Order: sequence, then structure tokens, then C-alpha cells
Amino acid sequence: MIIAIDGPAASGKGTLGKRLAAHYGLRHLDTGLIYRAVAKAVLDRGARPDDPVAAVSAARALDPSSFDEATLKTHAVGEAASIVSAIPELRAVLVDFQRDFAAQPPGAVLDGRDIGTVICPDADVKIYVTAAPEARARRRVAEYKAQGRDIDEATVLADIHKRDKRDSNRAAAPLRQAADAHLLDTTHLGIDATIRAAIDIVEAVRAGRGRG
Ligand code: DC
Repeated sequence: MIIAIDGPAASGKGTLGKRLAAHYGLRHLDTGLIYRAVAKAVLDRGARPDDPVAAVSAARALDPSSFDEATLKTHAVGEAASIVSAIPELRAVLVDFQRDFAAQPPGAVLDGRDIGTVICPDADVKIYVTAAPEARARRRVAEYKAQGRDIDEATVLADIHKRDKRDSNRAAAPLRQAADAHLLDTTHLGIDATIRAAIDIVEAVRAGRGRG
């Protein structure tokens, strides 16, 4: 089974992906980490995040087994990732790795921006997870607080608006809900209720398929 999860920044899709994968015994790929790793490698080389040559060469040298989430999940790397990810040549280089990952048995949960639309258009289940920007900003601030960082909510909200705009308006594989994706709005849901709602979606799709 392949489950595609897409959604905007701080929508909770990473946590959802991890928990769904554990529930169904599937592998999990947080595709945002790939773009973050490319962005970090580009910055480390002193290149600009909108430089296609630097981005493609960083992508070719990527070793996903050595990803360090703590260094990739910073705000600065996320911003740079949003910029590098608009480069079509970079996205093209990363397609095969993501599709190969999805194709390995017993299947996988992939989360990102273009999983249901571009990477796995034939995924068994597609979930588009979203939440009001204010709710996402509040969750991000709580995460930062847990890491001992005090960041003002208005600043985080402004960043979220900026990131949504950039990820949705780019020409290459923009953030979009696939026509056959199930919408999961988590504005008023905690993490456990979100997982339960997602499992309900997966089970409903499986039951529907069984009847067909
Ligand atoms: O989900 P995230 O915040 O870790 O993603 C960081 C950036 O990477 C995001 O702003 C857009 C980009 N991205 C993408 O373009 N396509 C994906 N499948 C995943 C992430």
C-alpha cells in the first residue's frame, strides 16, 4: 500500500506520516527532508539557494541515510528549502529516488507537497492535510518553545503565509490538493484525533475498494 500525504508547512503531515507508517507497518519518507538536505548542502558550499547548478550537483551527491533531522529542521534551512524546491531541474533529479522508495515492499507513506499529484499519482490513498495558518503558527511556536527557543507568534505566522505563497505559486509541482485526495483539516484536532481521522480515511478507501 502507498499512502501519499501532502499539505502546507507546519500542517502536521510529518508526524501523521510517521504514525500512519508505524500503524500499517509501512516505511516512511519525509520528502521535505530531501529538499532541506539539498538546501543545506547548497548553503554550506556558499552558493545561493536559487542556483540550479549548485542544487542539482548537491542532489546528485545526496546520501539520505546520513540525514540529521535536528540540523535540517531549522527555520533557516526550511526557508532555503522552499527556494531550492522551486527549481524544476532539481525536482526532476529527485523524482526517481522518491518513486523507488515508494515501490519497495511492503509499501510506504510519503509526505510532502507533490506526492499525490506528481510523485505517486497512483497512490492507494491520498490525504491532503491542512489547518488554518494561525493554528499552524501556534503549533510551530510550541515546538520551538519545547526546543528552548522563544519566537514571537506573529513572526512565525508571517513566515507561514510567505512559505504557503511560495510553495503554492511556483510553476514546478506546486502545492495542490490532488483531485482524488481526501481533505483532512486539523485546525480543531489534536494529534491523536488527527491520526484516528487519517486511519478512518484509509479504512474507508480500503473498504470501498473491497466492495468494488
Ligand atoms: O515540509 P517541509 O517544511 O520540511 O519542506 C521544506 C520545503 O521543501 C517546503 O517549503 C517546500 C519543499 N518541498 C517540496 O517542494 N516538495 C516536497 N515534496 C516536500 C517539500
